[in-house]
Amino acid sequence: MTVRVCITGSPVSYSRSPLLHGYWLKAYGIDGDYGREEVPPAQAADFYRSLAARGYAGCNVTAPNKEIAFSVLDEADESAVILGSANTLWLEDGRLYGASTDGYGFIANLDATVPGWDGEQKLALVLGAGGASRAIVHALVQRGFERVVLANRTLGRAEVIAAAFGAKVVPLAFDKAADVMADADILVNCTSLGMKGAAPLTVDLSHLKPEAVVSDIVYVPLITPLLKTAAERGFRTVDGLGMLLHQGVPGFERWFGMRPEVTAELRDLLISDLRAMGQLEA
Ligand code: ATR
Repeated sequence: MTVRVCITGSPVSYSRSPLLHGYWLKAYGIDGDYGREEVPPAQAADFYRSLAARGYAGCNVTAPNKEIAFSVLDEADESAVILGSANTLWLEDGRLYGASTDGYGFIANLDATVPGWDGEQKLALVLGAGGASRAIVHALVQRGFERVVLANRTLGRAEVIAAAFGAKVVPLAFDKAADVMADADILVNCTSLGMKGAAPLTVDLSHLKPEAVVSDIVYVPLITPLLKTAAERGFRTVDGLGMLLHQGVPGFERWFGMRPEVTAELRDLLISDLRAMGQLEA
């Protein structure tokens, strides 16, 4: 019987998840279907509670429903509990399980593209303190980072995240980020700066260690001003698209019983799609 899964959220039309999972279903010849369901927040709790009755084996959840989805789970994994949100749901013995796979996607992408990225001192400098930042801070601490410095324009938001993780996560004012640059093994942009239509992120990279990695979670444009500058200075750089691809792996494996691979061909497919939508420069 065809295993049915979908992406849910509102609006859901922008999601690349059907393209991603559709590629894997075809590549592995799996009898599955990955669709789209527009689910406004007011109907979200009912929708997730009735996944099985609707014929779904699970779903992905995008904005603005991730917190609502979390609230109706029977079982949440640690990543979902830490974030208070879930983006991947599946049914097991009639119970609804959920996880947040953003942190996993971030780390798996680094492991795949820049081996040895986590360095010696295990110090990360993370810029920005929104939802994506919280997932990444958690993933870095899980990975064994000794210190994660979280710099944000609104210091209070960085303090709230830091308080959830203990002494390893240190909040810092955004304009003090340069002070820790020299010790960082990795610099991660989790702000919206550098996104198409937003101002560029301008940070001074001159004190960063030559072996440090510069990573951006923004993927429109693929090469943000930060990544361009970093590459010109000879740093290893990682764009945000790989995180998007890797975060889909755990869900696909749960629903369809096979761990899919993130390939260059898949990445090219997503890039072509972003271009066709006019979101990337030709
Ligand atoms: P998400 O949940 O998607 O990660 P968000 O909650 O909108 O995103 O967070 C955007 C991040 O970009 C925040 O850290 C924001 O800083 P504030 O918490 O001070 O708002 C940061 N950001 C946006 N514009 C910025 C700017 N001009 N300078 C510095 N940081 C900025």
